[in-house]
Amino acid sequence: MPGAFVVFEGGEGAGKSTQCRLLADALVARGHEVVVTREPGGTAIGEAIREVLLGAGSRGMAARTEALLFAAARAEHAATLIRPAVARGAVVLSDRYLDSSVAYQGAARGLGEERIAELSRWATEGLVPDLTVVLDVDPTIGLGRARDANRMEAEPAAFHAGVRASFLRRAAASPGRYLVLPADRPPEEVAARVLEAVRDVLPAAAPAEGGGDAHPGGSP
Ligand code: TYD
Repeated sequence: MPGAFVVFEGGEGAGKSTQCRLLADALVARGHEVVVTREPGGTAIGEAIREVLLGAGSRGMAARTEALLFAAARAEHAATLIRPAVARGAVVLSDRYLDSSVAYQGAARGLGEERIAELSRWATEGLVPDLTVVLDVDPTIGLGRARDANRMEAEPAAFHAGVRASFLRRAAASPGRYLVLPADRPPEEVAARVLEAVRDVLPAAAPAEGGGDAHPGGSP
């Protein structure tokens, strides 16, 4: 694919949105077109589904309804935002993607990790990130840092421990496509390690204004 698709995953309060922003700034400075997005959301339909999923009125939603709505938001996101952006050469940075469903609905809610992964693969026609950065944090620390309370945060400690274990299992199973970083390090230090890993999956950057010093055809 011409562009690149990078995902940030992690439990509550892991600092995903901060890292998304820092990476976006670094990539824009290097001449890339960057699209920052999130799940659930990223599209008008996805944001409407987000309201249904995370709004106050949805407490007690059946687990399968929840899993299908996350998958529906993801289907819209993959088809109408992520794929077209990557196809034109942009770098897409998403705050959460498929592994969040595997961890929250598959593992923590007990619907089955493989079944939920399969549902999302179907929803996205198999769109796999080039790199998934897992920001790993002890849930007891992360929950204390999370600013935007949502109904997932009210779940018991065992739920969040299940989420964390699932992310780490997925990463361990495909080390080439994951980077696991301790989220309790200073944000700039985490950002530097993310940028280093992302370099391997980046498209060639757009030439800088003024032409730069590229030598088409190369020299010996
Ligand atoms: P959000 O406010 O974006 O939380 P965070 O800042 O932690 O990312 O809310 C997203 C919530 O939805 C979060 O608790 C994780 C949960 N979630 C799932 O349960 N399944 C999913 O597939 C996704 C994408 C998110």
